[in-house]
Amino acid sequence: EKGGYEHFTLKEIHEQPAVISETLKGKIKGDSAIIDEITLTEEELKNITKIHMVACGTSYHAALVGKYMIEQELRIPVEVEVASEFRYKNPIIAKTDLVILISQSGETADTLAGLREAKKSGAKAIGIINVMGSTISREADGTVYTNAGLEIGVASTKAFVSQLVALYILTLYLGEKKDILGVERRRYIIENLRKLPNIVDKILEIEDDIKEKASILDGVVSSIFIGRNINTAIAYEGALKLKEISYIHAEGYQSGELKHGPIALINEECPLIAIATKSDTYDKVKSNIEEVRARGGKVLTVATVGDVEIAEISDEVIYIPEIDELFSPVINVIPLQILSYYAAVNRGVDVDKPRNLAKSVTVE
Ligand code: M6R
Repeated sequence: EKGGYEHFTLKEIHEQPAVISETLKGKIKGDSAIIDEITLTEEELKNITKIHMVACGTSYHAALVGKYMIEQELRIPVEVEVASEFRYKNPIIAKTDLVILISQSGETADTLAGLREAKKSGAKAIGIINVMGSTISREADGTVYTNAGLEIGVASTKAFVSQLVALYILTLYLGEKKDILGVERRRYIIENLRKLPNIVDKILEIEDDIKEKASILDGVVSSIFIGRNINTAIAYEGALKLKEISYIHAEGYQSGELKHGPIALINEECPLIAIATKSDTYDKVKSNIEEVRARGGKVLTVATVGDVEIAEISDEVIYIPEIDELFSPVINVIPLQILSYYAAVNRGVDVDKPRNLAKSVTVE
């Protein structure tokens, strides 16, 4: 049941600290990631020189974060493709490539077809899956289970966060098996992963503050989300969440693309939601915000606690705790989920079952 929450979606948002711990549980031992369900031999793992990630919707956004993670940490090239595109493009897959299918349900028709395409090429394929015993997990050469528990809300929240955690675990695993990540770096990653449940808890404590700030979306017809680097996908995910559950039109952009077109949309009825937490590209995002403000646009910024300057160029700021940029997607998405939730509640939408959507898309 809903455990005292008005909607499953809100309950699932609140379950995220526990879900992160659950995803980590049993998969980290000492300084190593252990994934018993992966059946690739040491040699097959060593031979991997390229990775493909295939997924749909929110799971596709997790893949985009995973690409940054793996490319930065392991320097292995990763191609990310929406499953409905991958399956029909006659993809170039070498036998030594690894194909990763990401799916909450493990039943999405296009993602399953992507898996079968990969197997036809003779490549190994592993799933990052929530539902145990689902078709993709049965057909893959191994599964990293995300252990998020049953997700009822049609809009994916806790499953997304658990997919990100699973991707960090997979990065650790491949990094060790392929002798790319030394013990110091692995320890650093594990320490940061262990900090995440507490940080997410801290953000959930400011839910009322975020609820109040959701009024920036009252009466708007459209909105633009921006992020950069590893947080580009979080801008996409924030925009998807908002349109799915509140029916407010929203687009996610790489913040550097703003002045190549989308800034033309900015006006009183189209605010900017900016992810401007501490990062290597923080100053760049800040100047994008200034450009929007100079054109009379309203801005809500997600920023790192202590950043007083950002408040001078934003209409509203949601402050969240500081963490290494590599792990920031996990925490940056939380205020955006809460924002979408309250924007939807304010509009009287059936949050758990938005119109026209199904929890699992098992037909093309
Ligand atoms: O079960 P899957 O992760 O394969 O589902 C993929 C998408 O259908 C799913 O993420 C969808 O985009 C959600 N409604 C997002 O909230």
